[in-house]
Amino acid sequence: MRKILVTSALPYANAPLHIGHIVEYTQTDIWARFQKMRGNACWYICADDAHGTPIMLHARQKGIAPEELISAMSAEHQADFRDFHISFDNYHSTHSEENRELAGLIYERNLAAGHITSRKIVQAYDPEEKMFLPDRFIKGECPKCGAADQYGDNCEVCGATYSPTELKNSYSVVSGAKPVEKETEHFFFKLADFEDMLRKWTRGGHLQPEVANKLDEWFEAGLREWDISRDAPYFGFEIPGHPGKYFYVWLDAPIGYMASFKNFCEKRGLDFDEYWSEESDTELYHFIGKDIIYFHALFWPAMLDGAGFRKPTTIHAHGFLTVDGQKMSKSRGSFIKARTYLDNLDPEYLRYYFAAKLGSGVDDIDLNLEDFVQRVNADLVGKVVNIASRCAGFISKRFDGRLSAKLAEPELFKAFADARDTIAEHYEKREFSRAVRKIMALADKANQYIDEKQPWVVAKKEGREQELQDICSTGINLFRVLMVYLRPILPGTAEKTEAFLRIAPLQWEDAAEPLLDHQIDKFKALMTRVDPKKIQAMVEASREDMQAKPQKSTRPASKQDAIADTIAFDDFAKVDLRVARIIKAEAVEGADKLLALTVDLGGETRNIFAGIKAAYKPAELEGRLTVVVANLAPRKMRFGVSEGMVLAAGPGGKDIFLLDPDEGAEPGMKIK
Ligand code: 2FM
Ligand code: ZN
Repeated sequence: MRKILVTSALPYANAPLHIGHIVEYTQTDIWARFQKMRGNACWYICADDAHGTPIMLHARQKGIAPEELISAMSAEHQADFRDFHISFDNYHSTHSEENRELAGLIYERNLAAGHITSRKIVQAYDPEEKMFLPDRFIKGECPKCGAADQYGDNCEVCGATYSPTELKNSYSVVSGAKPVEKETEHFFFKLADFEDMLRKWTRGGHLQPEVANKLDEWFEAGLREWDISRDAPYFGFEIPGHPGKYFYVWLDAPIGYMASFKNFCEKRGLDFDEYWSEESDTELYHFIGKDIIYFHALFWPAMLDGAGFRKPTTIHAHGFLTVDGQKMSKSRGSFIKARTYLDNLDPEYLRYYFAAKLGSGVDDIDLNLEDFVQRVNADLVGKVVNIASRCAGFISKRFDGRLSAKLAEPELFKAFADARDTIAEHYEKREFSRAVRKIMALADKANQYIDEKQPWVVAKKEGREQELQDICSTGINLFRVLMVYLRPILPGTAEKTEAFLRIAPLQWEDAAEPLLDHQIDKFKALMTRVDPKKIQAMVEASREDMQAKPQKSTRPASKQDAIADTIAFDDFAKVDLRVARIIKAEAVEGADKLLALTVDLGGETRNIFAGIKAAYKPAELEGRLTVVVANLAPRKMRFGVSEGMVLAAGPGGKDIFLLDPDEGAEPGMKIK
């Protein structure tokens, strides 16, 4: 029995999960479930990544303590994971005592071994907020092309890279103040000390070949010292012996894998050292996105090595998710939150679709919504579940739910059972799309078998009872083997299958032997077809999420403005703001947040959908004046076309306030 520890990247405790995240958790979950079915001791560990400047500022904007923010977000994340059937053995937080201790220990050991140095650096500082500013929190004009509102490290218009001090008219995104330069002492991890070890390790079969090649480029560029400290105010762990200095979030994030496992060991009485000591013969797998390879394949093994811990067995990187061939987009409704998906569709559909697309490489994968409907319906409902539904009725009606004592076609069953090593190998190598192809080819064979044997014809003939029972029992056994193979991908359907067949949770080797002379339950639909209307509803709800997105801030208005991305004055001048009178307001069937408004723009009426249902009763709105964006291009929504935008503000929910012009205003009046 192998002993395996598996992790997925720790999500930031700053924002809800979206379906892009779900790719990685599904991939890891399938692999971990597969290992468990094989009889291995496999622990799947994760946590929220709770530290850093964005989380500190986000909490401040909401007027709450960071601890409150991260605990609410952790609950939200865990509910999403649970509903996607992501089966963590432990879910913890990087803001935990275990992590504080381990981060301190790893730092102290590296320090004692001479791998940490400190020196004074000059950094941008916000004199108003009294805080040092990460590059992303400084904006200004690009020193090369002059484009306004570019981040402190690179220009999105001309692609130039530079340091924040080179920006013209720079300002702090936090307060709007002009940053000044200030000296401060920082701590650095001497990555170059580990160059020989890393060159060997990265070519030691722990990484995908394309990732190892990428690392070669980084070796050629030179391994620079890594800045591992940040100054107060910061939400994180203070560096032992250095008040006011904190570990940079990326130092303690991967240590969070260990900390979550330690927390699990304490609860379960497992031996932490058996998994993490340098001599460990257990296996450690990290599943990550390709954007965080540098941290995982260079800094992380080096930190572990410097502190005398084992290094990962394998780091597995995956690509990004596109939707309908494009980057997820809020305006197209393809930026789909995990919860919005779950509100509309069965998680098993998406798990299957991702599995059918995932290989062992780092290529991006595309969720094509039409293909999604077609594929799930054709493969899962049309092929797999159909096998059971074609046979189960006869078994329950004609044989009291009893399966035969022998199969009609033992050779066919054997061919199904014999596929288990090949399919297992595909799972093991994370070639899930190959596993799915092989499983679906078997499902085709099972359907062909039923087509040929025509149990519905046999059922009508006298004296062929035994033959009918044997054919249908064979069909159900073929279905059962397919469900063994699909169980890592479709745990929910597998559970329903286990109830239907009255069997214990399926294990991999169960595929080797048929289920004979056995009582089963009445067949109930194991999965329903994807309804394309639900896809449409999900896309609309994703647009609605963005429209109704509250301005979550309790900061003074001037500071809020500075936090948001700015637009140029010319862009602002294009917006045609007009006074409008609401002449009709009504709820929209099927929309949680929207009201349908009919507004008078001074002779012209428009229909506008507004995400203000929680704040206003329709009757309160009729007759009131408000401000609308009159020249917004009409947008087709699920409920109709929206011909403008009503302006409102507030923290959200019930507290959204329509912008009311003075009573003297007239509908149609332009706002200057
Ligand atoms: O990129 C991210 O979303 C990080 N929160 C991942 C951290 S993974 C690990 F190092 F903790
Ligand atoms: Zn530029």
